[in-house]
Amino acid sequence: MKNKILGLITLTLMIWSCGGAEQRAESPETSDSVLLKQEEVHGSEVKEVALSTPLDQAMVKEGQGIYDMKCASCHKLTEERLVGPGWGGVSKKRKPEWILNMITNVDMMLEKDAEAQKLLEECLVRMPNQNINDKEARSVLEFMRHNDGEK
Ligand code: HEC
Repeated sequence: MKNKILGLITLTLMIWSCGGAEQRAESPETSDSVLLKQEEVHGSEVKEVALSTPLDQAMVKEGQGIYDMKCASCHKLTEERLVGPGWGGVSKKRKPEWILNMITNVDMMLEKDAEAQKLLEECLVRMPNQNINDKEARSVLEFMRHNDGEK
């Protein structure tokens, strides 16, 4: 009789600890879904951009700051390739919407856009998402236009 009770207690404890393990196993899932939500915050596709002349000098300046901090390690301001293509002439060569999507939605572009895929083939490195919001990206575009000699 005593043995049976002991057995029961042991069994109950075992079931309990298994329950605990299940709860622990759930927690990585929770943090996954948090991560997913953070990803969703970025990048709705940019469909239309209104450019203005003359350039907005405040945006040019902000764009330059972002370039120095987050882009210069891979992009030169000439046509010469570093890790990624040089930015010389890029604002003439590409549509503004295309450039903005390359900055804020690079994963979508590398998945779907033939031109972006061609660049990936040439550069052999995937441009990482730089966590740039739409307003910052617009300033970078203004800086690119400035770099290409627009006033
Ligand atoms: C780690 C290197 C790296 C960094 C940092 C980086 N890029 Fe890129 N970028 C690339 C590569 C590589 C490509 C070519 C596409 C590919 O292979 O993914 C590219 C392509 C581009 C293009 C298309 C260029 C063209 O000739 O059409 C634009 C625009 C661009 N990047 C903007 C940016 C901006 C803006 C930043 C900074 C906020 C940035 N990149 C930071 C590596 C980088």
